[in-house]
Amino acid sequence: MADRYLSFTATAPGRFLTARLGLPQPAALSRWTPERPSLDGHLLHLTAGGPSGLDLAPVLARTGLPTATEAAGATTGSTTGSATGSTAGSTGPAAVVLDATGVRDVDALAEVHAALHPVVRSVAASGRVVVLGAPLDARDHHQAAVQQALEGFVRSLGKEIGRGRTVNLVRLTDASAAESTLRFLLSPRSAYVSGQVIGVAAEEPDRPADWDLPLTGRTALVTGAARGIGEAVAQTLARYGAHVVVLDVPQAAEDAHRVAARLGGSALTLDITAADAGERIAAELPDGLDILIHNAGITRDRRLVNMPAERWSSVLDVNLASVLRTTDALLAKGALRTGGRIVATASIAGLAGNAGQTNYGASKAGVAGLVRSLAPRALAEHGVTVNAVAPGFIETRMTAAVPLFIREAGRRMNSLAQGGLPVDVAETTAWLAHPASGSVNGQVVRVCGQSLLGA
Ligand code: NAI
Repeated sequence: MADRYLSFTATAPGRFLTARLGLPQPAALSRWTPERPSLDGHLLHLTAGGPSGLDLAPVLARTGLPTATEAAGATTGSTTGSATGSTAGSTGPAAVVLDATGVRDVDALAEVHAALHPVVRSVAASGRVVVLGAPLDARDHHQAAVQQALEGFVRSLGKEIGRGRTVNLVRLTDASAAESTLRFLLSPRSAYVSGQVIGVAAEEPDRPADWDLPLTGRTALVTGAARGIGEAVAQTLARYGAHVVVLDVPQAAEDAHRVAARLGGSALTLDITAADAGERIAAELPDGLDILIHNAGITRDRRLVNMPAERWSSVLDVNLASVLRTTDALLAKGALRTGGRIVATASIAGLAGNAGQTNYGASKAGVAGLVRSLAPRALAEHGVTVNAVAPGFIETRMTAAVPLFIREAGRRMNSLAQGGLPVDVAETTAWLAHPASGSVNGQVVRVCGQSLLGA
């Protein structure tokens, strides 16, 4: 179902009318295309809280944004600023990276304000603000207070910045371990990811030979890939070089085969709730697999008072029990190769709760619990990371079936004032599945345009 309001506000009369009425004015988001693979403009690199221990400059230079030829004097107060990019000054930056890892007290926190206050207005439409923070120090409550303060700061700025611009926080101790994460956040591929806090460990990254085709030689299995978000995930992973196995129920066999043929992959028709689903996947892929995407999911909405046990159990079975079962079976068989990636699909309904979705919300919160508990063990014992994406309102057949008023509310009630596209979830999944993302583990990353639900 096309977002007619978004199209209307892109016209001159639409802009005029909605501005006069004080209605939301969503900006058309710039997404990745082969012709426009990176942001359009330069990157401004600022520091708050004193010199950082991070060796950021070489990593930022590899993001694809133009390299500095001169310093940009975006410094205020005690904040030190330097810019990488063609900072000729006519247009504002396409991205700002503020290194705030050295902020340890409230006075230093003022440098965050001093650094961004003068430049935030000039950040280009669909631009990026990425704040870098340090892990919270359990032995220093002043450091922990101000580092946690960065979360409230980032989420608030995300809500006010507008014009399709996003604001995210990355907690890290090592810049090179965060390269895949920074490349993702500082690109058009993260168009619908805002207000997120992402933890990056100090793992040595497995750098691909070709950053445009990082999944070359890898096999990815995507459940529920005959249509919707799963199809977009399969397509995106194939675009990055993976051999994709498109798994879906036997009733969707025709679509599954069509998608697989288009992507040069293979199809596997299987109900993921089958008790032996893990064994059948392992038998289908005797050489193992590298990437396992748990995307298949269903809704059977009713308020709890009206919900029969069957509606409860079918949702819990597809969305959670089968994810647990197949993950356990494939890990136990050693079917996931070292360097493997598991990405499960949660939902903001699981994080925030949603009326009529006690079954769905429980199943998706369960996915988040699975990820947080299993991630450290899966990495230690199998060399496999486990993360989740938590989509918000994404334009698919699932959301096209939502009644008009609720659909409109879902679309507008986020910082970007529009629904996301399946490709937004797919690109986020591809970043988590990236060989250089071994440092990102146990994270639940929302792809929701910073939805007001549970924000
Ligand atoms: P969809 O309904 O368009 O596609 C789901 C696919 O999963 C279908 O091809 C279906 O046949 C398959 N599937 C269902 N049960 C299966 C089973 N037992 N075994 C194998 N395949 C099965 O759904 P959509 O919108 O693409 O959602 C994909 C995932 O994203 C789901 O986990 C959903 O809960 C989640 N999600 C979607 C949101 C949205 O706004 N569309 C929001 C938040 C989460």
